[in-house]
Amino acid sequence: MAKREPIEKQAWKPGNVLSPAPAVLVSCGATRGFKPNLITVAWTGNVCSEPPLLSISVRPERYSHGIIETTREFVVNVPSLRQARAVDWCGVVSGRSEDKFAGAGLTPAPALKVGCPIVLECPLNIECRVRKSMELGSHTLYVAEVLAVQVTAALIDGRGKLRLEKGGLLAFAHGQYFALGRCIGRFGFSVQRRKTGTRR
Ligand SMILES: Cc1cc2nc3c(=O)[nH]c(=O)nc-3n(C[C@H](O)[C@H](O)[C@H](O)COP(=O)(O)O)c2cc1C
Repeated sequence: MAKREPIEKQAWKPGNVLSPAPAVLVSCGATRGFKPNLITVAWTGNVCSEPPLLSISVRPERYSHGIIETTREFVVNVPSLRQARAVDWCGVVSGRSEDKFAGAGLTPAPALKVGCPIVLECPLNIECRVRKSMELGSHTLYVAEVLAVQVTAALIDGRGKLRLEKGGLLAFAHGQYFALGRCIGRFGFSVQRRKTGTRR
């Protein structure tokens, strides 16, 4: 058996180092007197499958925070690489002073179940209504139910599977954006028999 090299570790101060994260465009507003807005969010994730719930964490000083507090709804728009520049721009300018849809060259389109628009160009649009919110400190955590999902039809293959990777997948890690590379295996590949493709 080959000898293993020792792996040295350094202790770092505690912080938000978990990576990579998705970088999504959250749309909100367009009801209750608010104009439509977009905020880039990296702190998001699935948190429950039945019912389908996801979370986003938003700082109270964001313009979008006031919108979501009032309307209790938003859309998580999962971008492809084509929207990478818009993702960054919507994360450095505020809807207080900019029309972000117009400025980013993105198209607001009707959602199915919520009043705020989806981002048409994003391949996956997840419409959400806030179920619970929690003040955690620097951020408010919103746990929201997925009410509807829209996907770009051109990304669905002949078997009805959504091929998000066709548009190019984007990830965010320690202040940098990355284009995700090739697929290295399917769920369960570690226990799959090589020849038959069946799992052990
Ligand atoms: C890649 C990236 C990820 C971000 N993630 C978050 C986040 O998870 N929560 C948050 O409150 N702000 C996050 N921000 C910052 C907001 O997107 C930014 O402050 C934005 O300008 C707020 O827009 P608004 O004032 O129109 O709401 C992120 C910014 C970038 C660029």
